[in-house]
Amino acid sequence: MKFFLDTANLDELKKGAAWGIVDGVTTNPSLIAKEGNPIEEQVRKICDIVDGPVSAEVVATDFEGMVKQAHELHAVHPNIVVKVPLTRDGIKTCATLSKTGIRFNVTLCFSASQALLAAKAGATFVSPFVGRLDDLGEEGMALIRSICGIYKNYGFKTEVLAASLRSPLHVVQAAQAGAHIGTLPFKVLDSLFNHPLTDRGLEQFLKDYNKVFQETGAPR
Ligand code: E4P
Repeated sequence: MKFFLDTANLDELKKGAAWGIVDGVTTNPSLIAKEGNPIEEQVRKICDIVDGPVSAEVVATDFEGMVKQAHELHAVHPNIVVKVPLTRDGIKTCATLSKTGIRFNVTLCFSASQALLAAKAGATFVSPFVGRLDDLGEEGMALIRSICGIYKNYGFKTEVLAASLRSPLHVVQAAQAGAHIGTLPFKVLDSLFNHPLTDRGLEQFLKDYNKVFQETGAPR
């Protein structure tokens, strides 16, 4: 399973990249807005930090506008993947431009039928939002399972990018369901490391080691 960081914050990206386990980045207009820079400038900086696919989302909602912004974002860096919403115009943009070599992440996917459209349009990634379905009392993870099963049936090349993951359990369940990628807020990636038995075990190992070697005075 590939791990993407779901943030446009450069400090978080630097910390995550330093661990050597971050394969890419996703952003959305809300995340970009938090950082206060124009999207082209911010994603260019992100591409300098993480060597992998970086999703940058269009804000136009009509086909012509999306096509124009897709070309502009694609020109920023070879690692840019253009994010389009799962609307009629978004799918049309993806179907039209994916043939020219521009990669697409079709976002705001909330049903298996929508995910079929993204695959048929030649999307590189489809982003089903787990947490936002959970928020409505649905089981978001069931959607990941369903899409992975359908894509497997037909050998679709589109990768399932589990998005809106809010906890380590979400990440594990997305992996169990067969999602190719999980995109994680920094806080969730950081929390994957934590287990009290790791801390306790390490403390005990060091205590035992230091006790014996301090008593005998033997070199460590
Ligand atoms: C995905 O690309 C989105 O940016 C993101 O995962 C949305 O997560 P949220 O529902 O926690 O805002």
